[in-house]
Amino acid sequence: MKVARALAETTERLEAAGCESPRVDAEILVSHVLGGTRSELALEPKRKLSRAEASDLEALVVRRESREPLAYVLGEWGFRRLTLTVDWRVLVPRPETEVVVERCLRRLEGLDAPSVLDVGTGSAAIALAIADEHPGALVWAVDASPGALEVAGANVLATGLEVELREWDLFAGLPEGPWDLVVSNPPYVLPEELDTLQEEVREWEPREALLGVGATEAVARGALDVLTRDGILVLEVAAADAGRVAALLGELGYVDVVTTADLAGRDRVVEGSRGK
Ligand SMILES: C[S@@+](CC[C@H](N)C(=O)[O-])C[C@H]1O[C@@H](n2cnc3c(N)ncnc32)[C@H](O)[C@@H]1O
Repeated sequence: MKVARALAETTERLEAAGCESPRVDAEILVSHVLGGTRSELALEPKRKLSRAEASDLEALVVRRESREPLAYVLGEWGFRRLTLTVDWRVLVPRPETEVVVERCLRRLEGLDAPSVLDVGTGSAAIALAIADEHPGALVWAVDASPGALEVAGANVLATGLEVELREWDLFAGLPEGPWDLVVSNPPYVLPEELDTLQEEVREWEPREALLGVGATEAVARGALDVLTRDGILVLEVAAADAGRVAALLGELGYVDVVTTADLAGRDRVVEGSRGK
């Protein structure tokens, strides 16, 4: 089978399975099997897939047809400058979470060795990106899920970056600081919202990474006890929840509360300073 036909057939199958971007997914899967990039595919439509490549592709397409997230099918996903291992034990890192990292980096500017705590780290995406892009930062990352921490540990090893991982329940308060910055993308989907999620998310991503009643409040309250006097809290929030969370931070005594939109223009990041 040639590349052009593999692409056409895969696109057709993924479209029939209800995938949102069948052509893009097909290009990513075929280029993954061939070990090249998507743009290289366009240059060699007549290249023949070997028997082994065709069989590898078939296995991946079958998984994607069952609506398993593309990131899990590939086993890796790009986040800022890093490529991270991901599987069913962790949330797939999202583009809006790259904005969370952007805000953290902005708030850490000028600090030589800031202490940073990532709460609910999952794949360690936020923690590792901060360690990568703010050299000298002392980064801790906690999660209640042992499975997520295994994936996070693999990513710490693979990237060679320094992040301390701990098993921790955010509802029990936060690890003692003092931290210059606490960041969290806590679970914030309400149980009644589960049915509105895409099949890939609802059926495949870990429930403990999605569903969370009161986790945002718990982090915001817990951070007050462990931040330095003018330490910063940065939170990812649900699309319709930024106003409520900003008001909550104000009520708790945070100052200079700022909301930032993601690339789609939705308010997704709320941050504030603990104040003096
Ligand atoms: C929305 S995911 C965020 C993962 C990662 N930080 C990211 O942005 O891609 C939330 C994470 O919080 C963790 N979590 C859920 N409940 C928790 C709790 N009570 N204490 C600590 N972590 C928790 C989940 O295991 C999951 O990894």
